[in-house]
Amino acid sequence: MWFWRLRQQSPQSWPIIYTLFNHETKTLGGMLTTMSLSIFYVSLRTNVTAPQRTPPMSSDFLAQIDLIPQLGFGLGLKDTYLDDLLTQHGTLDPAHQVEWLELIPENYLDKGGFSVHVLDSLLDAGFPMTSHGVNLSLGSVDALNPQYLDALEALFARVQPVWFSDHISFSSSQGRYFNDLMPLPFSTEAVAVCVDHILQIKQRFPYPFLVENISYYAQIPHPDALSEAAFLTQILEHADCGLLLDVNNVYVNSKNHGYDPIAFMQALPLDRVVEIHMAGHLETEAMIIDTHGEPICPDVFKLFQWAYPRCRNLKGVLLERDTNLPEFQTLLAEYTTLRHCAYDSLLPDAFAPVLARS
Ligand SMILES: [Fe+2]
Repeated sequence: MWFWRLRQQSPQSWPIIYTLFNHETKTLGGMLTTMSLSIFYVSLRTNVTAPQRTPPMSSDFLAQIDLIPQLGFGLGLKDTYLDDLLTQHGTLDPAHQVEWLELIPENYLDKGGFSVHVLDSLLDAGFPMTSHGVNLSLGSVDALNPQYLDALEALFARVQPVWFSDHISFSSSQGRYFNDLMPLPFSTEAVAVCVDHILQIKQRFPYPFLVENISYYAQIPHPDALSEAAFLTQILEHADCGLLLDVNNVYVNSKNHGYDPIAFMQALPLDRVVEIHMAGHLETEAMIIDTHGEPICPDVFKLFQWAYPRCRNLKGVLLERDTNLPEFQTLLAEYTTLRHCAYDSLLPDAFAPVLARS
């Protein structure tokens, strides 16, 4: 944690610190479902009036962002790693320790037995936790699901998440849940739907709330579509919440839809980034699929090194691995590489060809 605080307070000292311490399921079928259901969404319209953007906006979220604790580097929580996490916690060199965990609430809602044992064991061991859900369905024209909100509230009473998050997408319609995150049209109507839902969520839960940029495989046509970055920015500013920047998703979308990932990130309000996700993907002949089942590729590491020093309010970086789970030591090695990449990104002239584009 100490190095994280130093990074925040004194970025220019990082070359010295680094020198001192350097010794140390998504399937094709799922995609097709995404495309068809997303196109279906276009036919759904609401009467919600879109907010007008009036920059610069005052922000309670940014005014209080320093109150969010610095968590450092974390891992997505998987029950299979319980014994490894408990064994390594407090025994490894601090530079290699997993500092926090992010749970997927759907894996623990209304559960008992081993699921409760996992959470209680890790909480007792002192791991801070965050929650990263998939079922708020922020962009759905339906009302928020009150049963889901109640279940989240009960889980959070046990876990006390440092922050919680979900995606800018929709994952349900008329009470039916899909096994995927559906993209939204980049319209002011969709902005208004998301903002309305986020404001309700913020009013109910006393934890900072973040939204994540998704990977998507179909762009939803709309006659007055905003750019994706403008769409996300309007939601963030009007709902006044934080951004969970998934760098792998930026890369996957930039390849599948042909845009410049650096220009995309430059257009986002990076001061609202509280958390960064890093993950692997699968390259096929047709497209790149965001699987969370492969090691992080070098190009995604380079994008991370562009983003990391520019997210001045960043509180945590998370390695996501949801499928094709490796041995814990293999994952820990990738985790350590991620930390070193963060340190490297603060060195002068690090990855100069990438930085030169900023
Ligand atoms: Fe993510």
